[in-house]
Amino acid sequence: MGLGYIGLPTAIIAAKHGIEIVGVDINPQVVDMTNQGHLHIIEPGIEEMLQEVVKNGRLHANTTPEECDAYFIVVPTPFKGDHDPDISYVESATRMVLPFLKEGDLYVIESTSPVGTTDKMAQLIFTERPELKDKIYIAYCPERVLPGNVIYELVHNDRVIGGLNEASAKKAQEFYSQFVQGSLHVTNCKTAEMCKLTENSCRDSQIAFANELSIICDKAGINVWELISLANKHPRVNILQPGCGVGGHCIAVDPYFISSEFPKEARMIAMAREVNNFKADWCAEKVQNAMSRFEFEKKRKPLVAMMGLAFKPDIDDLRESPAKYIVTKVMQSCSNANIMVVEPNIKEHNVFKLTNYKDAYEKADIVVFLTAHSAFKTLVPTDSKVILDFCGIFKNYSHC
Ligand SMILES: NC(=O)c1ccc[n+]([C@@H]2O[C@H](COP(=O)([O-])OP(=O)(O)OC[C@H]3O[C@@H](n4cnc5c(N)ncnc54)[C@H](O)[C@@H]3O)[C@@H](O)[C@H]2O)c1
Repeated sequence: MGLGYIGLPTAIIAAKHGIEIVGVDINPQVVDMTNQGHLHIIEPGIEEMLQEVVKNGRLHANTTPEECDAYFIVVPTPFKGDHDPDISYVESATRMVLPFLKEGDLYVIESTSPVGTTDKMAQLIFTERPELKDKIYIAYCPERVLPGNVIYELVHNDRVIGGLNEASAKKAQEFYSQFVQGSLHVTNCKTAEMCKLTENSCRDSQIAFANELSIICDKAGINVWELISLANKHPRVNILQPGCGVGGHCIAVDPYFISSEFPKEARMIAMAREVNNFKADWCAEKVQNAMSRFEFEKKRKPLVAMMGLAFKPDIDDLRESPAKYIVTKVMQSCSNANIMVVEPNIKEHNVFKLTNYKDAYEKADIVVFLTAHSAFKTLVPTDSKVILDFCGIFKNYSHC
């Protein structure tokens, strides 16, 4: 249930390993493209596999489910306006498979979910279909793949499986062992749910530490990149690199699933979210100040290059991107400013008119590096421009 960035590659890999798959998605375009053997997501190396499994009949897609032996819920779990988790997609996908469930079936949630979701869905299933109580297997098995390396990681990463009971965990373990070569670690549902949230909250907190350091260093007149590289010479210190915030639909979202449910206890986790969000506002303010200073000193408006929209290097994903947020904020606050927007991994954008990165760099008076794309690292540092380097493109060039 759900043929997105995670569901589709999982369906393809499972089909490739000989499992018969019905891929269900409520988006008919996704279903049509999948049945035609065309990937609707960007993921290297997987389209040929899709064509193979569609051709040999192991995978077909539909907008509605049909009777199967195992059901996997891989639908979005966003947060609402107040940062409370929205599990309505999980619930609606579960309701869609409810009529097809029968004795001996396996039901697994893969979507990143707040603690207690699997129990809630089990309750829903047993309320609607009481005859299935203790007759089906229910488990939670989160995904931790890196987009861009999904084919490898789906097979080789270790997985954590939380069962509603021991038999459920074992059944799910049996299923995944058909194509996962990493270890399959068994626990209960709540621990498995919390494990996924913990992994991403840990990353968020570590990045928050680096981002906070970068703000302190800016005030203290210290090159944060040099500082971190020196501190990391300590055998037990490993500080991450700062950036212009934290983005993506995992690390920037999942910690809220803990802090909204445990608001009193999750102090550091909530604070990390605050620090990382603040970093984006801090960057936007730095750009606005640099623009005002330029205009005051040169008596003309600067031409500004905003370098990067994606939330991390060398991808085209703009979800929850702090770079996109900063560009929008600066443009809104200075409506008649001359701003060029650069994102080398995207051909066209429906809001921003994109400029080639080399042209933008050459023409701009103020260059703002927001995403550490490899292409930007080929540019030559210069003293003739104001350079705001929020992501370490010119790390060793102390002028920035
Ligand atoms: N993308 C990642 O890198 C990643 C990594 C780990 C975990 N996750 C988690 O996995 C889950 C899925 O993420 P994704 O990136 O694949 O999302 P996605 O948005 O790419 O895909 C989800 C798909 O589910 C479909 N859908 C929605 N409701 C449905 C329903 N009731 N029945 C069938 N299909 C339905 C949507 O049309 C969409 O195509 C989320 O909980 C996410 O947090 C994602």
